Amino acid sequence: MTAAIRIAVLKERASGETRVSATPETVKKFIALGASVAVEPGAGASASIADADYAAAGAEVTKAALTGADIILSVQGPEPKVLSGAHNGAWLVGVLDPFGQRARIDEYASLGFEALAMEFMPRITRAQSMDVLSSQSNLSGYKAVIEAANLYGRAFPMMMTAAGTVSAAKAFVMGVGVAGLQAIATARRLGAQVSATDVRSATKEQIMSLGAKPIFVENVAGIEGEGAGGYATEMSEEYQKAQAELVSSHIAKQDIVITTALIPGRAAPRLISDAQIATMKPGSVIFDLAVAQGGNVEGSVADQVVEKHGVKILGYSNTPAKLAADSSALYARNLYNFLSAFWDKEQGKPVLDEEIGDAVRLTKDGKVVNGRLLGA
Ligand code: NAI
Repeated sequence: MTAAIRIAVLKERASGETRVSATPETVKKFIALGASVAVEPGAGASASIADADYAAAGAEVTKAALTGADIILSVQGPEPKVLSGAHNGAWLVGVLDPFGQRARIDEYASLGFEALAMEFMPRITRAQSMDVLSSQSNLSGYKAVIEAANLYGRAFPMMMTAAGTVSAAKAFVMGVGVAGLQAIATARRLGAQVSATDVRSATKEQIMSLGAKPIFVENVAGIEGEGAGGYATEMSEEYQKAQAELVSSHIAKQDIVITTALIPGRAAPRLISDAQIATMKPGSVIFDLAVAQGGNVEGSVADQVVEKHGVKILGYSNTPAKLAADSSALYARNLYNFLSAFWDKEQGKPVLDEEIGDAVRLTKDGKVVNGRLLGA
């Protein structure tokens, strides 16, 4: 019988990162598969998980967690020097930011790691439970609305009181992917009147099914807005102009705007200009969920409330980190679902198939092997 493979759980080093890549629940499940799990001390502290909880789940809590590790679990990709002691060829599993951290990926390769980027998980039905972008975006969409509500000097729901009526807030969600859908649902639950827009026409029905009003550019020739894998594509100039006009007239009447628009591998599209902000009512709030990818809103600055023309603009560099316990629990399950789906009982370790393995694998045998990174 071969020795049990060793899974190491890193304490995150990046500033502001509060999440952790395994929970006592997933530790137990990995052990049930036949692995051993070692957790760095304090790994779960900022996600409200004590070392003792990991130990009770069967993990070894040790500073030497990486020594002899075969699989390293992380949230963000660590600096390569952190990883010394792991086996040659060990897997590094995390949100590795392959485009943003290209030099680091090269280093993982030259150090012999097999780096697996979870954000490259294909958006296919069988991988839904492994999809970290979805699990984290969903929480981000919720948090964006809560934070906007907190900054807003008025109430969200309509209230009829003896002292008079408080009117409902008008909230507008721009970009209706996973985060946008949750933002719509959350704003509706808080009692706002919600509208939403996207470049993908398929979202119209989803917006209506959540009880919100779709705001769409119509009659501009030749646009579908949807490219490979259900993602948005960059729009024509004609479309962008029509969208800007539509947004201008709509946005002036909104109290809360949540922007979530992203285009994979590119800077986030600019959706709101300073001139448009100037048309909004003082006291309105914009939450820019894309701020870390360049921002959808002119003038937004990560982790700061910026006030322009009486409008407060906020966005976080790491929104899921603001909900560390839930985002860690979902993220950890995504990693478990991924590794366990490929667990080979005879070999006592996961063996990836081509469709998912080739999509997420960045490096192997000393080289960068991913088609998206090599420009294939
Ligand atoms: P995303 O985070 O890449 O982008 C957010 C939203 O912004 C998207 O809906 C996009 O169409 C929109 N957008 C981009 N440019 C825009 C612009 N100029 N104006 C307005 N909106 C703009 O998207 P996310 O949340 O990752 O979802 C992308 C797609 O993947 C969706 O179709 C989603 O339903 C699908 N999906 C499929 C999954 C699966 O089958 N496993 C899991 C999760 C998502």
